[in-house]
Amino acid sequence: MILVAGATGNVGGELLRQLRAEEVPVRALTRNPGLASLPADVEVVGGDLTTPDSLVKAFSGVDALFLMMSGNEVAVVEEAARAGVRRIVLLSSVAVETRPESLIGRLHREAEQAVEASGLEWTFLRPGQFASNTRAWASQISEGDVVRTPFARVGLPAIHPGDIAAVARTALTQEGHAGAVYPLSGPRSITPVEQVAAIGEAIGRKLRHEEITAERAGKEMAAYMPAEIVAATLEFLGDPTVTEARVLPTVEAVTGKPARTFARWARDNADGFR
Ligand SMILES: NC(=O)c1ccc[n+]([C@@H]2O[C@H](COP(=O)([O-])OP(=O)(O)OC[C@H]3O[C@@H](n4cnc5c(N)ncnc54)[C@H](OP(=O)(O)O)[C@@H]3O)[C@@H](O)[C@H]2O)c1
Repeated sequence: MILVAGATGNVGGELLRQLRAEEVPVRALTRNPGLASLPADVEVVGGDLTTPDSLVKAFSGVDALFLMMSGNEVAVVEEAARAGVRRIVLLSSVAVETRPESLIGRLHREAEQAVEASGLEWTFLRPGQFASNTRAWASQISEGDVVRTPFARVGLPAIHPGDIAAVARTALTQEGHAGAVYPLSGPRSITPVEQVAAIGEAIGRKLRHEEITAERAGKEMAAYMPAEIVAATLEFLGDPTVTEARVLPTVEAVTGKPARTFARWARDNADGFR
C-alpha cells in the first residue's frame, strides 16, 4: 500500500491518478476528507502532517510514503517508521542546492535530514519551478485578456507536476532508487510571455502579457505569502542561478519518457483557465 500525501494537490493528485492507472494499491491523505473531491472509489484517510498523532490510521499497512514538506518531518517520519513504512519519497526543492541559506532551502533541507536520519529507504525529488504555478493567473484570465507578471523574458524550465509524479511513482514502486537525489526540470526554458501565449492557445483565446515591476508583484504576493518567501520567490524568478535555469535529463532517465512541455501542461489543465 502506498500513501500519497498532498493527494488533492498538483503533484499528489497526478501521482494518485498514475498509481491507480497501474492498479497499485493506494491511499490518499488529506486534512479534510469531507471536502476532498477525489474519485469515489479512492481510499481517502484524514490526517494532518503537522499533527503526527493524526496519522496513525493513515500509516497503517503502508509500505511506501509520498511525503510533502510540512516542517514537522522528525515526528512524521518517526510515526511512519513505527507503523512499518519502509520507503519514503520526499518532494523537496532545487533550493536545497541553489539557495541553502534561504527559508525555502533550509526548510526543505531540514525535511531531507529528518528522512535521512529515519533509517528508512529514501529518495529525494528536487524540482525547480512548477508549470502549475501559473494557476495564480487564472483570475486575471477570467477577468480579461491581459496577464501581468514581472520578469517577462526570464526563462525557466518549468516542470509538469505529472512528470514529478512519474518520477515519484517509479521510485515508490521500483527498486534501485534508494538514496537517490533527483534534480528535476521541464524539457526547455520558457518565459512568462511564452507561458501566457501557451495558455491562450490551450483555451482558444488571444492573451497578452504585460510586464509589471518586481516591487508591484511583491506587494500583491505579500497578501498571501510571508515576506521572506516573497523575497526568495522574486529572486528565483528574476535572477535564477545557472542550476535553476538548466534543463535536466532526469525525468526521462528515471521514467523512460521525455519530460512534458509547458504547452502540454496548459492543454491538460485548460479547464482551470476557462
Ligand atoms: N511550486 C513550485 O514551484 C515548487 C518548486 C519546488 C518545490 N516545490 C514543493 O512542492 C510543494 C507543492 O506541491 P504541490 O504544488 O503539489 O502542492 P499543492 O497543489 O499546493 O497542494 C498541497 C497539498 O498538501 C496538502 N497539505 C497541506 N498541508 C498539509 C498538512 N498539514 N497535512 C497534510 N496535508 C497537507 C494539501 O491537502 P489538503 O488541503 O487536502 O489537506 C494539498 O493537497 C511545495 O510546498 C514545495 O515543497 C514547489
